Amino acid sequence: ALRASFVSKSQSPSQRASVNPQIQASFKVAVLGAAGGIGQPLSLLIKMSPLVSSLHLYDIANVKGVAADLSHCNTPSQVLDFTGQSELGNALKGVDVVVIPAGVPRKPGMTRDDLFNINASIVKNLVEAVADNCPNAFIHIISNPVNSTVPIAAEVLQQKGVYDPKKLFGVTTLDVVRANTFVAQKKNLRLIDVDVPVIGGHAGITILPILSKTKPSVSFSDEEVQELTVRIQNAGTEVVEAKAGAGSATLSMAYAAARFVESSLRALDGDSDVYECAFVQSELTELPYFASRIKLGKNGVEAVIQSDLQGLTEYEQKALEALKPELKASIEKGIAFAQKQP
Ligand code: NAD
Ligand code: LMR
Repeated sequence: ALRASFVSKSQSPSQRASVNPQIQASFKVAVLGAAGGIGQPLSLLIKMSPLVSSLHLYDIANVKGVAADLSHCNTPSQVLDFTGQSELGNALKGVDVVVIPAGVPRKPGMTRDDLFNINASIVKNLVEAVADNCPNAFIHIISNPVNSTVPIAAEVLQQKGVYDPKKLFGVTTLDVVRANTFVAQKKNLRLIDVDVPVIGGHAGITILPILSKTKPSVSFSDEEVQELTVRIQNAGTEVVEAKAGAGSATLSMAYAAARFVESSLRALDGDSDVYECAFVQSELTELPYFASRIKLGKNGVEAVIQSDLQGLTEYEQKALEALKPELKASIEKGIAFAQKQP
């Protein structure tokens, strides 16, 4: 069965240990941008995972204190800190999963694409180091604009001759987390049961919740579909405006990213029932990258779930066609950036 939330599928470390005393912490996870608004709470949540043996925290500054602080939690993983470019290679050696929330966040009035000029170079630089030091790792890209930074990462990996499309993910879990929360609230459902696939990309209208495929099966009026879709698409901006210049979503993002890390670790650990939405190389549509539900396995994407694009409502079909030009342009912008760099 699909697992609808981070809470439902991953019990607390003590619960898991008491259920199955044989669980061994064995995976190494690196967080690049670990001292940031997302990086710190995300690192805390990863520190709670019983599947992690080593947590590598990398940032350009302020990471020593974060690591010292986290290392006092009596959970299995060892916490190591790495500061600055000279320590980046060591931060990545032997790592199974690399999570990248490095980069600048939005302020009110900005689009995610307005972050491109700064974040494109940051992602390019970090992924080059990933290619050199842990080319087989799962790579989770959080830095915005995800619709462009994932194609940049793919190009960099290709240039280095180590691109495995099954292991590169744009993290769109927060869109699913939000969709689940808003739908449960609107329809008075138990949160833990709700699962809404969200497809397309991760910016504005490219975020497309497929409400007709909500589990459990629910019916929505046209007005509800319109209201929920727009709220899910604008949820990032809702937080940016509420924070009024102090950044964008960090806590809910950390929660969502931790869920995606935990799912990846469970897949690496041999669990054969792991599904998440993510922005990946895809043949679902004519676009080279597309977010949809995927099945995760030991080698990364095991299958792209085709059925979420079948039998769409007229509203969803129109929204799908409408998002394609913007998503295509963002993908092409990322590819062009990576190809013109020396
Ligand atoms: P932040 O400014 O609080 O933290 C970013 C961190 O990145 C800082 O600690 C900074 O020192 C570090 N950093 C900058 N350049 C670096 C480099 N070259 N190497 C390593 N670290 C570097 O920002 P935040 O709120 O944590 O957001 C980070 C990014 O995540 C933003 O681009 C934001 O738009 C994005 N984001 C994505 C999603 C999503 O759903 N995918 C959700 C929320 C935020
Ligand atoms: C989000 O969806 O919260 C993130 O992409 C951050 C943002 O800029 O909205």
